[in-house]
Amino acid sequence: MNMSILTLFPEVIESYINASIIKRAQESEIVKIDVINFRDFSSNKHHSVDDSPFGGGAGMVISPQPVADALKSIEGLNKKVIYLTPKGKLFNHFLAKELSNEEHIVLICGHYEGLDQRIIDEYVDEEISIGDYVLSGGEIGAMAILDAVTRLLPGALNDDSLEEESFTNYLLEYPHYTRPRVFEDVEIPEVLVSGHHKNIELYRKIESIRLTLKRRPDLIEEGIEKKRFSKEILKLIAQEKKNLY
Ligand code: ADE
Repeated sequence: MNMSILTLFPEVIESYINASIIKRAQESEIVKIDVINFRDFSSNKHHSVDDSPFGGGAGMVISPQPVADALKSIEGLNKKVIYLTPKGKLFNHFLAKELSNEEHIVLICGHYEGLDQRIIDEYVDEEISIGDYVLSGGEIGAMAILDAVTRLLPGALNDDSLEEESFTNYLLEYPHYTRPRVFEDVEIPEVLVSGHHKNIELYRKIESIRLTLKRRPDLIEEGIEKKRFSKEILKLIAQEKKNLY
């Protein structure tokens, strides 16, 4: 998969993509990430990329020319152009999954008051927000998307980790423990050292269901509605719902 990030702060993105899983995914050619500073495309002699808004008002607006020219410089036919903005559709696991099927995603990071509307209308396919708060720019959103999408690409992670991850099965993940067995007088759940794999599996399913019922009952309802649960999980959900009341 190809990803192109348009930003005025390439160093912010570069520090992130040159570490851990994203770095490895690039080395194994699962993803190719291209960071483009659209200031380099400014035809203005001072390389400026913003201007005051028509009609007046606070802040500066990103000029359309550098963004349009940077977009036109990106090769490839099947590109999905995404603009990071608090006005966009809320990002989540299911949107990440959809994007992981794209051939090439282009992420535009805004700054100041954002992009000129003509760029959004003429070049952008989808506007995405990473949460109901306003950030100073789109870089954190772009990093969230590139990370969440990359880890879903085949081969980026060991496939067992994906299977059990939060959201994959409309459930939040169960808790994890490692050595030592007792830490600051707190012992790990006995079942995890029982060697009884069936019981461990059942304990983890129940913990997942309990946590999801407590924190994200909406996910459980969505999973039920979309028929994503096995008979066994549905039975455990019913049992845990009863325990709640
Ligand atoms: N840019 C500024 N705020 C944002 C948000 N919440 N999501 C995505 N991009 C943004």
